[in-house]
Amino acid sequence: MADAYILGIESSCDETAAAVVRSGEQIISNVVFSQIATHQRYGGVVPELASREHLRAIVPVVRNALAEAHATYDSIDALAVTQGPGLAGALLVGISYAKALAFALEKPLIAVNHLEGHIHAVLLEERQKGNHDLVFPVLALVVSGGHTHLYLAEQHNQAWTYRNVGHTRDDAAGEAFDKVAKLLALGYPGGPVIDRLAPHGDPTAVKFPPSHIKHPDRRDRGAGNSGQGGDDAPPRVDFSYSGIKTAVLRYVETHGMTSAIEARRARLSQISKPTTDDYLSLCDRDTLNLVASFQRATVADLVEKTLAAARAYDVATLFVTGGVAANNELRRRFEEQASLEGLPVFFPSRPLSTDNAAMIAAAAYPKFLLNDFAPMDFSAEAGMPLRGAS
Ligand code: KG4
Ligand code: ZN
Repeated sequence: MADAYILGIESSCDETAAAVVRSGEQIISNVVFSQIATHQRYGGVVPELASREHLRAIVPVVRNALAEAHATYDSIDALAVTQGPGLAGALLVGISYAKALAFALEKPLIAVNHLEGHIHAVLLEERQKGNHDLVFPVLALVVSGGHTHLYLAEQHNQAWTYRNVGHTRDDAAGEAFDKVAKLLALGYPGGPVIDRLAPHGDPTAVKFPPSHIKHPDRRDRGAGNSGQGGDDAPPRVDFSYSGIKTAVLRYVETHGMTSAIEARRARLSQISKPTTDDYLSLCDRDTLNLVASFQRATVADLVEKTLAAARAYDVATLFVTGGVAANNELRRRFEEQASLEGLPVFFPSRPLSTDNAAMIAAAAYPKFLLNDFAPMDFSAEAGMPLRGAS
């Protein structure tokens, strides 16, 4: 099969990214422009600012990706772009630019689901390492700032199928990291800071009640979106992370931590790029214990529910991907627990765990082989589900 060079473009949230990937198995270039500096002072992504920043960055980011790949627009075989899910205005910037390029260059354009991209980040890197022997079915936990989803992923010839077997009822796990960090004045995004501070606290100091889903939806039982489930089918898995965020807030209020938090917020606002030592010097023991306990409880919940689903669906392989998959404790716990069950677990490297366009170009490759191209009138789909045949 001839090699295909695909130029991927990603703009679903706060990263403007472009990459060139060869045949879904080799990263030729991978450029990510993060907007963190723009959103940091607001403690979260501001959609209008995200669109504006994507508009500014998209042309240089794509040019850089081609230049780093020593490629030209003409040498690319196809373009791929994230269609959704994500922020509508942000998605539209990438889609409009990709459409314009595809039209002008007379190259095919492939629309990719962002969640499918996160799953293909793992596949891309495994192939790049020479591992072509993954055993199916795969259970993939996609855990990021916007998503906490479990998918059964299978490949039939070139076509990929995904079945959703679990999701969060409220906040995504990454969102809980971000909100807890914001509440404790630890900056944005919260995941990386909490990851670095947690080893300095006692993870058993604060007890959080396990997350309980109050009203399981019986229609959700069984075969996910395909609607073929019966009462004997394995149940869907529900995650919930708004409760633990509220529990952290209660702890802060009942332990009189508010004034120390405001003092930290004021001090940190004067430091342009705080280091881990800066954070540590501004956090007392109680705060570090709270951070460590929050991370321990969240990670334990993700690992426990994912492994329960792996057993229920009798999968052969586990993928853990998305921004939160960069978390050190999450990786360690998954590796320990999955190996006890003899289940191989794969993560993307840290740069490919968070949003990037290499994963979009990789997910597009099987569609390229199937001539599964996007019509020129396709548009952004902010709430785009991942399901069925790709
Ligand atoms: O995949 P991603 O870049 O964007 C979405 O698709 O949402 O994920 C970003 C999320 C943020 O919530 C961020 O706090 C979280 O991933 N994150 C982490 C870590 N690095 C990023 N969470 C925990 N530990 C980390 N090391
Ligand atoms: Zn993502």
